[in-house]
Amino acid sequence: MVDVLCDADRIRSPAVEDAFRAVPRHLFLPGLALDEAYADEAVAVQFSDGIATSSASQPSMVAIMLEQLDLRPGHHVLEIGAGTGYNAALMARIVGPAGAVTAVDIDEDLIARAAVHLAEAGVSGVELVAADGALGYPTGAPYDRIVLTVGSSDIRPEWVAQLGPGGRLLLPLAVRGSQLSTAFDLGPEGMLRSDSVRSCAFIRLRGLGASSDAGTRLDGVGLVLQVAEDGPGADPGGVTAALAEPGALLPVPAALGTADVWDGFGLWLAVTEPGLCRLLVCAPETGLPDDLLPLGNSTGTIALATTAGERPPGLAVVVAGFGQADVQPGSVAVRVFGAAGPMLARRLLASLDLWTAAGRPGAAEWRIAAVPAAVGEAAPSGVGVVRKEHCCLLMDLPGVPAN
Ligand SMILES: C[S@@+](CC[C@H](N)C(=O)[O-])C[C@H]1O[C@@H](n2cnc3c(N)ncnc32)[C@H](O)[C@@H]1O
Repeated sequence: MVDVLCDADRIRSPAVEDAFRAVPRHLFLPGLALDEAYADEAVAVQFSDGIATSSASQPSMVAIMLEQLDLRPGHHVLEIGAGTGYNAALMARIVGPAGAVTAVDIDEDLIARAAVHLAEAGVSGVELVAADGALGYPTGAPYDRIVLTVGSSDIRPEWVAQLGPGGRLLLPLAVRGSQLSTAFDLGPEGMLRSDSVRSCAFIRLRGLGASSDAGTRLDGVGLVLQVAEDGPGADPGGVTAALAEPGALLPVPAALGTADVWDGFGLWLAVTEPGLCRLLVCAPETGLPDDLLPLGNSTGTIALATTAGERPPGLAVVVAGFGQADVQPGSVAVRVFGAAGPMLARRLLASLDLWTAAGRPGAAEWRIAAVPAAVGEAAPSGVGVVRKEHCCLLMDLPGVPAN
């Protein structure tokens, strides 16, 4: 497993490689066959109503985040989302006996199991705490590093307050439907700046930091609609009405793979277009006549829709290009719905041209600054400004002229 992660450039530094070689993952996944414990796959370890509430994250992602975290010997680290304890054990190895790892999980049972795993692996230097990590863990502050291994829709002030000077906060942050593993460095006056952004897909926070941006089920069409949590967003009633009026299927000149659709062009659209929405399948039969795209663990796609109050309603949806002749891999098309669909399709295709001209940037090309929400109120709304309850994100693509 470690050789594979090194070859794939997921593990880049000797310190992270050493930790992966030293900590046996199978001891954190008791009962699992060895080949499964060392496959590059996430392993769900707890469920509620059939939905995973805890998992040992995919080793590739663990490695990517450890590289983003840039731990040093002697660092004092807070992990929110202890889970099996595996990542905490890796971090304890890197920070060494002069450092310390505090790992919190909202679930007491998981904390008890993690304690057994750490003892069996002979790991010391990890303090396990059953607590809601939305509040951080002030008892151990300040920290050199705070890492969430669970997704959050916001940057809570408690985490920023518990970082020491020059500290780094790493979290899977939801940004209008994309989840971005973002490493923020704390600068003067509470400003956070990222120098490293990666795509990711983590289980979301439970408890105080839980968010309600899971989407809206559209009546009778087998789809969930996700819209930007800030701003007007697509109108669910308008989307449902438009879906009843399918129109033309327009060819798209560029090939788009799954990652392009979700965190490449999809993220670009999310930042630049208020009507961007994501459609996810929730029932085998959907109201869309074309094949949707496989996206991570789900099936779905991106679309531009009219926002609340815009009449007539319309929708332009990126779909697999199977309806076209001469289909190439990654070939997609735009399906138009409703009277406003053609106008939205033109906007979507113009935006695709701009994204292509910008060099098809993906998640890793973005830079994000975050300021407290009250400070962000002074920032004029517009392209690149994403408002949350606790913070305001300023999204930028260095080297790409504003459009
Ligand atoms: C993807 S798992 C973390 C995997 C873990 N780092 C490991 O190495 O096994 C996410 C974890 O976050 C925990 N979690 C969810 N909400 C939380 C909260 N508010 N505070 C602390 N932990 C939370 C879940 O119980 C789950 O164990």
